[in-house]
Amino acid sequence: MEDRFGHRISYLRVSITDRCNERCIYCMPQETQEWLPRAEVLSYEEIARLVRVATTLGVTKLRVTGGEPLARANVLELFRLLRDEAPAIRDLGVSTNGSLLAREVKWEGEAMTMATALRRLGVRSLNVSLDSLDPVAYRAITGRGFLPDVLAGLAAARAAGFPSIKLNCVLMRGRNEAQLPALVQFAGEHGHLIRFIELMPVSTTEVLSEENFLPVAEARRIIERGIGSLAARPDFRTNGPASYFQLPGSDQLVGFIGALTNLHFCESCNKLRLTCDGKLRPCLGSHLEFDIRDPLRAGAGDEELRSLYRMVVDRKPLQHDFRDSYQPNRKMVAIGG
Ligand code: 5AD
Ligand code: SF4
Repeated sequence: MEDRFGHRISYLRVSITDRCNERCIYCMPQETQEWLPRAEVLSYEEIARLVRVATTLGVTKLRVTGGEPLARANVLELFRLLRDEAPAIRDLGVSTNGSLLAREVKWEGEAMTMATALRRLGVRSLNVSLDSLDPVAYRAITGRGFLPDVLAGLAAARAAGFPSIKLNCVLMRGRNEAQLPALVQFAGEHGHLIRFIELMPVSTTEVLSEENFLPVAEARRIIERGIGSLAARPDFRTNGPASYFQLPGSDQLVGFIGALTNLHFCESCNKLRLTCDGKLRPCLGSHLEFDIRDPLRAGAGDEELRSLYRMVVDRKPLQHDFRDSYQPNRKMVAIGG
């Protein structure tokens, strides 16, 4: 699939739940949660069907997100379905807060960690949120004291042998800027690729203000003051919009996702999003969304679903609207980053 601007769309992100066991201040509104009723949320069979149809249009990369995807009941069953029904997915990833990766699960009669089970089911890459290594700051940001669980989860993920484990840190002035050098060091020690992400107005939360916003350029300077000067590595790219820099005297790379300050941010966009309630979103930073759940439940054939996908790809905007005082209308937790 190609959009109007020549972007080849090969990457689908699927949010499988709007629920989460954490309450990150940039993601969730702080008032009591109202979760989507179960009937509104796509079943695992429905998700697997939509993914399979997407692969017939050239999607080869899939990322499962949430809320916290690993908190959804019987989540391993979804990965089994994806493995069996969408074998054309070559690159399968999960975005998680990491708190459940070390949990013991039973899979095919055997006890193992969640991380090992995911690896056995073909998950290749894990993106784990880690905004601070300080337990007090971690709790202040995520609303929960799960830092020890996340660190155990990362150890379980390393033991499970994932080819790629990345750390995601959302930049917030006054909340975690003092932690940035320590986070870089932690990533280096454990061989994880860390990326620092500018706060995006994607969720209806209180934290999205000018005062909290920390641009990636400033984060780079903070890291340079702590560790030494960073050398741009424009030749290094992953599948996403991050720019990478190399640490002095080491081969460690650090990524910066300047969603707001990098004016070329959208140029390499290859993504489409599916929300847990079955809406296709052509862009994270646009209100456009198109329902695919009702046609699916009304018995649409593959060709009808394919034309819906094509229509949504055709509506992809040139770039996101974040710089035009964008007002989020969904909680991030229901989009999946
Ligand atoms: N701004 C930037 N990144 C965000 N994430 C969640 N909410 C926001 C936001 N408002 C990121 C988290 C997580 C990923 C799924 O999305 O860091 O790693
Ligand atoms: Fe949960 Fe991730 Fe949102 Fe934090 S950012 S509340 S861990 S879904």
